[in-house]
Amino acid sequence: MKITIFGAGGNVGKCAVNEALSRGHNVTAVFRDISRSGELNEAVNIVQGDASNIDDVVRISAGQDLVISATRPPQGSEYKLLDVCEALLNGLEKTGVKLLLVGGAASLILPNTNGRLVIDDSELVPPAWRDIAEACLAQFKFCEENSVVNWTYVSPPALIMSGERTGKFRLGADELVVDDNGQSKITFEDFAVALIDEAEQENHIGKRFTVAY
Ligand SMILES: NC(=O)c1ccc[n+]([C@@H]2O[C@H](COP(=O)([O-])OP(=O)(O)OC[C@H]3O[C@@H](n4cnc5c(N)ncnc54)[C@H](OP(=O)(O)O)[C@@H]3O)[C@@H](O)[C@H]2O)c1
Repeated sequence: MKITIFGAGGNVGKCAVNEALSRGHNVTAVFRDISRSGELNEAVNIVQGDASNIDDVVRISAGQDLVISATRPPQGSEYKLLDVCEALLNGLEKTGVKLLLVGGAASLILPNTNGRLVIDDSELVPPAWRDIAEACLAQFKFCEENSVVNWTYVSPPALIMSGERTGKFRLGADELVVDDNGQSKITFEDFAVALIDEAEQENHIGKRFTVAY
């Protein structure tokens, strides 16, 4: 598959590039500043672009099979997450390319709470994270309202950190996936496995899924 990845220099994006490449996909890694692309396998196509710029989205996605977006705005500019979501959806409406959007856990339902959301749990979302959580909630609603683009929204678990690639995890739909100790977590490496599995299998078109151990 021809896969374009926005946010390719980030924690999630880097692992997605490596996972897609290891499975033989043709990978295009997008950076706002290509001088910050670092050491990348020579098979990766490196392209300059901004996911919040609709013209860039159209130009870079044309002819691709899938766009993965894993961008994160800097603290204090959380609203930019919505600019990116809007440009991606509007741009991909024009090129007809599928979108796999890495979002947030905020909109997931807490298990055994009669529908309480993660965003309303102050232990999982302390005040300092409230703005990004609200932006993620709006981002998810934005996707839900779009019936033109073939989008899939992926909610990470509460915690995502560097570690091993085990290939073993569980998928969920709208509820936070927690382990026997009540923890909701995964490594960036395994999260990337779930992303590229979805890229290949297309099990959640027009839907959200989540993944955790
Ligand atoms: N529990 C949770 O809900 C949870 C946990 C972790 C991550 N996440 C989500 O996962 C996503 C990725 O997280 P991460 O840890 O990989 O983030 P990260 O390491 O901060 O990387 C984000 C990347 O996005 C790029 N970027 C930002 N705005 C962009 C734009 N307009 N166009 C193109 N690239 C842009 C940045 O590039 P520059 O170098 O150009 O700034 C950076 O490389 C985020 O959406 C985050 O909210 C959710």
